[in-house]
Amino acid sequence: MYSFVSNRDCMEVMKTFPDKYFDLGIADPPYGIKQSGGQTGGKGKLRNRIFNHGAIDSWDFKPPQEFFTELFRVCENVIIFGGNYFNLPPSRCFVCWDKVQPWKNFSQCEFIYTSFKGPAKLFRMDNRIKGKIHPTQKPVALYKYLLETFAKPGDKIFDPMMGSQSSRIAAYMLGFDYTGLEIDTDFYSSGNKRFEEWTTPKPVDDSLPKLSEKDVQRKVGR
Ligand SMILES: C[S@@+](CC[C@H](N)C(=O)[O-])C[C@H]1O[C@@H](n2cnc3c(N)ncnc32)[C@H](O)[C@@H]1O
Repeated sequence: MYSFVSNRDCMEVMKTFPDKYFDLGIADPPYGIKQSGGQTGGKGKLRNRIFNHGAIDSWDFKPPQEFFTELFRVCENVIIFGGNYFNLPPSRCFVCWDKVQPWKNFSQCEFIYTSFKGPAKLFRMDNRIKGKIHPTQKPVALYKYLLETFAKPGDKIFDPMMGSQSSRIAAYMLGFDYTGLEIDTDFYSSGNKRFEEWTTPKPVDDSLPKLSEKDVQRKVGR
């Protein structure tokens, strides 16, 4: 199994892959970030980083169709977050992600496009992740669900826009070969750090519990 990542522009890198090189492409493009009334991306420093990134700014209003053309070319099947924002072929098999959202002024669900055949699906999971390192970070459990539902053992997975690397962590946990790209240097290094933290085995604390003098006395029956 391999987990290959690179800090590069997917538009450049995708050109180098042959047709249908990957079995499954999972893309979460920047979308809806600055649309009127939209609040995707949260507030504060991380949101400013997303705004300051030229690539993201232009994507929000005019997503390049060539990105999707290339993604469909290099992948046998695709899963695309925010599919309702893009010009994609019709599909019956989308995933509705119910975010169990208590606030009425935030989106309660998200449309995830897939190129697979079959009935539409529902995935329910709270999106309020603690300690986010990326403004649009998706839960690892969501990616695990998508891989368990749509990928076959031995599939090669591709994420052209990894962000926090949730997709990479899920692919690693499930034993899939994985290739991921991220254009932003800071997101790339914080994502790598997060991946290492998730996947490095923690030392097992097998030392005996410390007993207080009182416990010792109780145990020896004094
Ligand atoms: C919506 S976020 C992905 C969030 C990710 N799914 C997660 O769970 O953290 C989109 C990411 O695409 C990156 N990006 C934008 N244009 C890109 C490009 N041309 N090539 C590679 N990455 C790009 C952005 O920097 C951003 O981190």
